[in-house]
Amino acid sequence: MRKRIVAGNWKMNTDVAAGVKLAIELMQLLIEKPAPENVGVAIAPPFTHLSEVNKVIDPAKICLAAQNCASESNGAYTGEVAVGMLRSVGVMAIIIGHSERRAYFKEDHATLAKKVDLTIKNQLRPIFCCGEVLDERNAGIQNNIVENQLMESLFHLNNEDFLRVSIAYEPVWAIGTGVVATPDQAQEMHKFIRSLVAARYGAEIAEQLTILYGGSCKSSNAVEIFSKPDVDGGLIGGAALDAAEFHRIVQSF
Ligand code: PGA
Repeated sequence: MRKRIVAGNWKMNTDVAAGVKLAIELMQLLIEKPAPENVGVAIAPPFTHLSEVNKVIDPAKICLAAQNCASESNGAYTGEVAVGMLRSVGVMAIIIGHSERRAYFKEDHATLAKKVDLTIKNQLRPIFCCGEVLDERNAGIQNNIVENQLMESLFHLNNEDFLRVSIAYEPVWAIGTGVVATPDQAQEMHKFIRSLVAARYGAEIAEQLTILYGGSCKSSNAVEIFSKPDVDGGLIGGAALDAAEFHRIVQSF
């Protein structure tokens, strides 16, 4: 049975003290009521928080993730944070290609492919984001868009490396908007993604791939979305900033 994951993307929210408090609250809730069997919990605080948050979480209960990484391994890249640095503060997974990175910071397919490679080279796990904008969905080309994102930044990996990857399907029109994809829309795209992976890597690897849904996911809609056969959990933005709400989402399987 493939792994289910609920990952919280804190984005650029909280200061260190508030972030540590949020992590402690979540830890306490997971001790009182652990995640269902086979469900992994991850949180992605801002870079500045990682080291402090790492001190208050049990890695058996919460996987520490980063929201981004540099596309180079070290050197004269002012303001960037390398994968090796993230690894040194306890990071296990990295969100790569979030639509906000693609849109506001102009991250292109080739840059994202380099980040994926560095993440894997450092034995960490990429959570690779893909998804179409509203105009693309209205034009009915969402499958082509997502296929191209995977082909250009992910499908160069060999089988062994691909096994480290999780994919997050995040329709851009659903992120932070309150407009959630219907469970059927999510299922349809997740099934399509799995079929692409099966064609490239074979049915067995496709069956093992964890595919998360992201975009206005909260406890009131998670149960229905997570019940779909190809939806293996969620990448949660706004609702991850409230420990009790995030914990309810973790319990939604
Ligand atoms: P949201 O964000 O849950 O606030 O829509 C999801 C994401 O961007 O990962």
